[in-house]
This record gives sequence, C-alpha cells and structure tokens, in this order.
Amino acid sequence: MSNVRHHKHLHRLTANMASSALQAFISQAKAQTRNRSEPADCVLALAPLMLDLIERATTFLEPQHYRTDPSHYARNLVYDAPDASLSLYVLVWSPGQWTPVHDHGSWGVVGVLEGVLEERNYVRLSPDRDADEGIHLVRGGVILLGHGAVTSFVPNPDHIHVTGVPLERSRAVSLHLYGRLMNSFNTYDVSSGTRQRVSVKHNES
Ligand SMILES: [Fe+2]
Repeated sequence: MSNVRHHKHLHRLTANMASSALQAFISQAKAQTRNRSEPADCVLALAPLMLDLIERATTFLEPQHYRTDPSHYARNLVYDAPDASLSLYVLVWSPGQWTPVHDHGSWGVVGVLEGVLEERNYVRLSPDRDADEGIHLVRGGVILLGHGAVTSFVPNPDHIHVTGVPLERSRAVSLHLYGRLMNSFNTYDVSSGTRQRVSVKHNES
C-alpha cells in the first residue's frame, strides 16, 4: 500500500466527518488496540464498541457502502488506517453468496446491520498449524447472526469458516473490523486438505 493511497483515505475521512459516531469508534478502536498485544484482549475491548456502532450505522453509511456485486459478496471499504493497523468494511451478501472456506490471519469483530448472516465453522484436527497441506478439517457448528449481533475471532489457532447467506434468505449487510488491512486471506480446499493465500478485492470508499 502506498502512502499516497493511505493519505487519500485519511483526507477523505477527515473531510467527511459528518459522523462523529464513526470518528469516535475509530479513535476508540485505535486507543483500545494500541497497547494490547493479545488478539483476544483486542476483540474483548472492541466487541462492545461494535455493538454501539451498529445502532449508529445510519449516521455514517452512504449509498456506496451498499454496493452489491452479482458475482460475489461485495466488500466496501469504510476506513483503512494509515499504518494498516485497522480496517473497516461493509460487506453486502446477496442471497446465495458465500465466502470460500477461509481464515483471516488476524483478529476481527463483526456486527450485523441487516438480514441474517450465517457462519459455518470448521475444526482443524491435524496438529500442524503452519502446514499448507495435509490439513484435516471437519465441519463444526453453525451460527446465525441477526441484526444487532456481534461476533469476533482471533488467529492462531485459526478461525476457519464459511460465511454467507443461503438462497432462500434475504440479503445481509455486515460491518467488519480487522486488525490489519484485510487484502488477503487463507482459503482451504477441504477435500484435498490444502490451503492457499489469496488476495481479496474491495471497493474504495
Ligand atoms: Fe471470515
């Protein structure tokens, strides 16, 4: 990421500070994570902030944050920190859109704005967390997250899951805060027991 791009975002956000709720969330999130090295401590501190942010989302979300994509769920950037320590996205899930099986390599806090977001979890039985092959995954539980719900995850052991919306349900919209710029994640092929780092795209603010 170039500095030019980061500055552009910072300026945009500064110029666009109509929402004190978003501004307060970002500054509190930075303050709460700056001196916390444990991801579990970060999500513990940030989950209540996300709970509040959901209720104030209409004060800062704009039409471009609701962009959809017919081919896959849409990732719409709201904020990325100049030092890449935080990023906040709105994800829009049309019916039938799912992620691959993946983990994030980062902590994350998710809040649901609209619809029901479904998360299907996997449990890794193979002991070597660093291996890219010979990975034995079994299906775990499912979580249905309705409006106002907050969930979070930490890396290592990785939170391996699929997220999306079944065809028969209406669209979901969710807010995702991560402990880095979320421009790549690990995807898993469950049947072959392999994983691969892939880049993920987003729409700019
Ligand atoms: Fe995820």
